[in-house]
Amino acid sequence: MSEDAARISRGFARRPRARLLSGVGGDVASSGAAPWWQSAVVYQIYPRSFRDTDGDGVGDLEGVRRGLDHLVWLGVDALWLSPFYPSPMRDFGYDVTDYCAVDPRFGTLAGFDRLLADAHARGLRVVLDWVPNHTSDQHPWFVESRASRASPRRDWYVWRDSAPGRGGALRRPPNNWRAALGGGPAWTWDETTGQWYLHLFLAAQPDLDWTNPAVVQAMHDTLRFWLDRGVDGFRMDVVHCIGKDPALPDLPPGLASIPVAAQHDDPRTLALLRGLRAVLEGYPGERVMIGEVVLFSTAQVARYYGHGDGLHLAFNFLPLYAPWEEGAWRARIAEVEATLGAQGAWPTWVLSNHDNARHRTRYGSEMRARAAAVLLLTLRGTPFLYAGEELGLEDAQVPSTHGLDPGGRDGSRAPIPWESGPGHGWGHASPWLPWPPDADNRCITAMRADAGSILHLYRRLLRARRGSPALGLGSFTALAAPPGVLAFRRELADDARLVLINFAAREIACPVTGAWSVEVASDGRGEGHSYRGTLGAEQAVVLR
Ligand code: GLC
Repeated sequence: MSEDAARISRGFARRPRARLLSGVGGDVASSGAAPWWQSAVVYQIYPRSFRDTDGDGVGDLEGVRRGLDHLVWLGVDALWLSPFYPSPMRDFGYDVTDYCAVDPRFGTLAGFDRLLADAHARGLRVVLDWVPNHTSDQHPWFVESRASRASPRRDWYVWRDSAPGRGGALRRPPNNWRAALGGGPAWTWDETTGQWYLHLFLAAQPDLDWTNPAVVQAMHDTLRFWLDRGVDGFRMDVVHCIGKDPALPDLPPGLASIPVAAQHDDPRTLALLRGLRAVLEGYPGERVMIGEVVLFSTAQVARYYGHGDGLHLAFNFLPLYAPWEEGAWRARIAEVEATLGAQGAWPTWVLSNHDNARHRTRYGSEMRARAAAVLLLTLRGTPFLYAGEELGLEDAQVPSTHGLDPGGRDGSRAPIPWESGPGHGWGHASPWLPWPPDADNRCITAMRADAGSILHLYRRLLRARRGSPALGLGSFTALAAPPGVLAFRRELADDARLVLINFAAREIACPVTGAWSVEVASDGRGEGHSYRGTLGAEQAVVLR
């Protein structure tokens, strides 16, 4: 995010204080009324890369189903499946041609139902990825829309004439917006019908026109299709982009080089979110609406929670981009606590996903990845794990000549190694991307057999979290600590934990008042013993 954009986003007026969301805050939480998604830990699965069972080198839903026992053993509460819908895979599934079906590469609808039933039988919730901002250009809706200006679906997408020519230019895109994943104009000229269509991402991902009630209706129906099957909610892809000013005004020149998807912030989206929320609330149970909001100011992200009528949870990627430095993290956490806390919105925390280098790779060592795991799983809010981070996986090295993703994100999408030896539990075909480094040792079976592995650390952390009301739903208080150390207290009723994270590569004395014992240590040292007042280099501990 450029300084400019950051300055602009800070300039947006804050909304009036929202009333508390139901279930948020100590009182309601302690009465046991908190919705499941507040205390849950969500595990993201990128189906192409989780596990292949049919030998084509691409993971599938049956691979996910067979992996459920791993998730139960690990101790997560919910899984989020990245898209598995029919798709030409230009953006590996985020370009959908049918919202109500399963791509044959991943399996069948019956296979999905089996997976859902088996997950529920194990007490795991299932959240689907839903891509509302754009479809594939192969989606029948778009094929129809681009066929002629008179098509009944013409106005399902955003078509515009050229901007008035200047300086002899014959054809100018309607505005100065730039697309993500390639950086060209967010407009593609259609020869047949002589107009431009809008795409905030690839030209193969035309934007739906959410000002059209027929689009709203059709997209609501796609939610109902999966809600009827029993899914527990949705992760809504770049959902902050769906509301647009029909005038589609130019961005100020200083911002025009930044993809519009990383700065689009229009109040019309909130009204659309209310509609989506009403669809979910028409179903029993607590179906969750998690929005991907790619805005780089927490105050902006906060607005998408609405007044208890918008998103239940919104991703906030500022911390993901924070360097491994105590000061940077202290500031990000304080901002979240102040901004979201003030409006009673429940935070989310994420260190890795399919769009960014894994934090093990970004932070440069397993020691740091371990300490980061302690942080991620003890902050106040809902943590999201990305499959493979529990193995401490690094990104695969994918030479640029072999890169597949137009956004250069292949490295973090490498397949998950389940076993040592050729195939790593995937069968014999080579997988669609290379294995991550050291896959013989960083695989599920080898790490399960090693009680000192990072995998066991994640498991102990998840167990500690589940066993502690303070860690799940309790208050957060930042504590004074020596430079290099981040310290905070979580508390609910008579349950309390202290968390100490040493970001520095040296031992630091960090005494605490009172008698505390080490419940979890990032390196396993001292667990079950009383805390002795010193943190090892880049060591993190949970004290009880
Ligand atoms: C989201 C997805 C990303 C995708 C983009 C366009 O950011 O996480 O993978 O490329 O939206 O759908």
